[in-house]
Amino acid sequence: MEVIIQPNQEAAAALATRILARELRDNPNLVLGLATGQTMECVYRHLVRLHQIEKLDFSLCRTFNLDEYVGLFPSDPNSYRYYMNHHLFRHVNIDLRNTYLPNGLADDLDEECRRYEATIQRLGGIDFQLLGIGKAGHIGFNEPLSALQSRTRVKALTPTTLRQNCAGFGGEDKMPRRAMTMGVGTILESRRCLLLATGSSKAKVIAQAVEGPITSMISATALQLHRRATVIVDEAAASNLVEKDYYRWIFENEPEWEDYR
Ligand code: GLP
Repeated sequence: MEVIIQPNQEAAAALATRILARELRDNPNLVLGLATGQTMECVYRHLVRLHQIEKLDFSLCRTFNLDEYVGLFPSDPNSYRYYMNHHLFRHVNIDLRNTYLPNGLADDLDEECRRYEATIQRLGGIDFQLLGIGKAGHIGFNEPLSALQSRTRVKALTPTTLRQNCAGFGGEDKMPRRAMTMGVGTILESRRCLLLATGSSKAKVIAQAVEGPITSMISATALQLHRRATVIVDEAAASNLVEKDYYRWIFENEPEWEDYR
């Protein structure tokens, strides 16, 4: 795992976007795993700008989102399909038929989860997975005790997540209590993972995820098992990390990061 500390949220999102954009330029057929949440809005804004100004091309790329609420229509502003269309897809030259999210309205949700996994496999697996982190440490909606080998499935949301995500729904009692999410195992199979976290509200969980012991109570700790995971944080989210100076030294000195400094 590599940790990169940036001065603020804007710089952290800009760096994440540059890393992603280079992957896409190197491989226009990229299979891209996408995340939702406020943190990612900044990344999508940067990607849209790169498309408009530098003609970053999405025409051949395929995308898979990490998760979707059960029971919401795509037209519902709280659905992740709506979020993706609104923040990214309709502003770039992506073919919507190449954008996949689990269908939270499927009659048979378990079958839909199996189908989602099969589609990822059929398209060759995920090349690059963007990740945010929930305050309780989830990636996707892999709530505490998600098996480290779990696959796409339905998960009940924890009270912490319901509280964290209820704003747009007008209250916890009005939001879905379940979501479909790629499993931790699904995420670990992607060829490269990039987790972005900003703000002081993520400081505690980032320290646990990066420097704490691997535990299914905090699914983001599973990234320690991944061969190529990069964590980008701003100073606020980095504030509880013990080895900050070491991470900074690596970013400033290792040739791999030369183009990004
Ligand atoms: C939701 C998503 C997660 C995301 C998290 C972080 O719970 N299912 O994938 O990581 O939000 O959200 P935010 O960036 O708003 O803190």
